[in-house]
Amino acid sequence: MTGRISEETIREIRERADIVEVVSSYLPLKRSGGNHQGLCPFHAEKTPSFNVNAPRQIFHCFGCGVGGDVFSFLMRMEGMAFPDAVRRVAERVGIEIAEETISPEEERRRKEREDLFRINEVACAFYHQILLEAPEASAARRYLRERGYDGDTARTFRLGFAPGRWEALAGHLAQKGFDVRQVRETGLIRPGKENRGDYDLFRNRILFPILDVSGKVTAFGGRVLDDSLPKYINSPESPIYHKGRVLYGFSQARETMRKSDEVIVVEGYFDLLALHRAGFANVVATCGTALTEDHARLLKRYVKRVKLLFDQDRAGQKATFRAMEPLLTGGLSVSSVALDAGEDPDSFIAAKGAEEFRTRLDAARPVFEVYIDSVLQAHGDAIEGRARAAEEIAASLTLVPSDIERSLYLKALSERTGLDAELLKAKVVKKAPAPAAKPVRGAPRTEAGGHHPPPPQEDLPPQEEYPAYGVEQEQPEPRGQRPVRSPARPKEPTREQKAQDWVLRLMMFDAKTRGVVAGEGVESFFVEPVRRAMGGILAEFSLENDEVEEAQLLSRFDEEQKAVFSGILVKDEEAFAEDRERILQDCRLVVAKESLRRRVRELDEQIRQAEQAGDSSRQAALQTERLQLSRDLKK
Ligand code: UTP
Ligand code: MN
Repeated sequence: MTGRISEETIREIRERADIVEVVSSYLPLKRSGGNHQGLCPFHAEKTPSFNVNAPRQIFHCFGCGVGGDVFSFLMRMEGMAFPDAVRRVAERVGIEIAEETISPEEERRRKEREDLFRINEVACAFYHQILLEAPEASAARRYLRERGYDGDTARTFRLGFAPGRWEALAGHLAQKGFDVRQVRETGLIRPGKENRGDYDLFRNRILFPILDVSGKVTAFGGRVLDDSLPKYINSPESPIYHKGRVLYGFSQARETMRKSDEVIVVEGYFDLLALHRAGFANVVATCGTALTEDHARLLKRYVKRVKLLFDQDRAGQKATFRAMEPLLTGGLSVSSVALDAGEDPDSFIAAKGAEEFRTRLDAARPVFEVYIDSVLQAHGDAIEGRARAAEEIAASLTLVPSDIERSLYLKALSERTGLDAELLKAKVVKKAPAPAAKPVRGAPRTEAGGHHPPPPQEDLPPQEEYPAYGVEQEQPEPRGQRPVRSPARPKEPTREQKAQDWVLRLMMFDAKTRGVVAGEGVESFFVEPVRRAMGGILAEFSLENDEVEEAQLLSRFDEEQKAVFSGILVKDEEAFAEDRERILQDCRLVVAKESLRRRVRELDEQIRQAEQAGDSSRQAALQTERLQLSRDLKK
């Protein structure tokens, strides 16, 4: 599973695959004209606007704008990264992937990572063995037993014990012949001062190995056996450990997460052990770090719902509300579980038992509701306090992706504060324009192939984010393609977009059009960044044949561009008799108009500024220009 997959192979796999068959394995499709149709799996709908086109091997949903080829479909459906989607289809069609050779630099990095993993593995086995058997670990075994954990837990989680000696592990690893530089890289040993030898990071601590999603040991956390400080220490970040991407317990929770479609997120190692013991296996722990977007993406691959179960103290509450942002904008449904004040899940289960715990779990409330309560309470009942609280809450409401939910919260908020709902709604729009899609990490942002966020648009739900990738992606992926956030917003294309789509369609089938666009420049035909980039790509294709080769196009488009592409192609080739020159002319006009309008908006702003500054002569000059522009526009 290393290295790149060649363009050639990707193309072959795409050609051999049957998208109708692949999609049909997820949802029923009905033939309708040249297309197959079904209910879109990517947004809720009652009448099918999801189309699969067999001849072109593409899909497109007119409801939410999602589309692309068979790989795009799997990426969205399974939350896979591009290379994994390619491999999945390859298996289906029985093509063996001969991976391209990778560069020496990549090879070196891969080998280095492998070495570090091996060191961690040996360390994990070493510490585990000590915990299970060594006389010097008897206090650790007693400690665990007193907290209610036996050898089974120790084995399931491969718990370990680092003895109090300074060079227990350092000596063991040296004896096994590991390279000192690499061992230091894992953070497990540290260079001693003044020609003393290297010493162990973990001493006299119970160890929790932290596994990545494929079950390899990336790091350790270690707890003291008494009240000394720090209570926990953790491996430092390393080439194989990025705490913002790993969740403790993930690989053990994976199956139950998938089955239950839900995950419980706790703070601590022992909380996780306690939940397992009480019979809840779909649990992961953040281990002292804030939940990140990467965490959210990782979880989104397996579940729809997240239950936050943090310590019942101020820090825990803060962590809960901080986790809202990555999780809600990640498209997950998030609730928060309340236990008794001062408890954490571990102590609660110990005190009240698993039954009571389940009751609390079932009583989890939507996190945003809890947030509203808490903000209202914090600001007090006076008018000013209520107003400020309402403002704060309204501003955060953009985090809630569903507009139905958002309007319900607004209504509730208005009832509880006595403030006008319309007024509050205005706050949501003003304070927070829908967050534009952030660039997908690692994706190249070239002019042509980049991922262009759409212009912020008011009153739109934040874009749904699709799980991009998790920690198991160790290799850079071919062509930097990762699953992208879906432009999931049910919307009719605007007149401008339609005009540009026409030009794109012509460019795909007609060499003359490509020549014209290349000659005049894409700026004359495209205002919208995604489509302009597509036009740029198409303009580079040869003028020898009319039709451009689809496979070549697909391999140059990113996922967002593929979605536009499939939208253009899935419609039947109606109206091909349409006059090319007229379409181009129309499009030029649309684009010119748009740039005039933009200039008008700029002028309005400048006029306003001049007025404020009391600069009346400048104001008059600007007004004149504005008038002229309006006339041009009418023409
Ligand atoms: P807690 O202090 O709540 O610990 O920190 P805990 O998990 O309840 O542990 P016990 O029950 O007292 O043994 C929650 C998590 O924060 C991280 C650890 O991952 C811990 O599990 N943490 C805490 C640290 O990394 N360092 C610390 O010093 C304390
Ligand atoms: Mn705790």
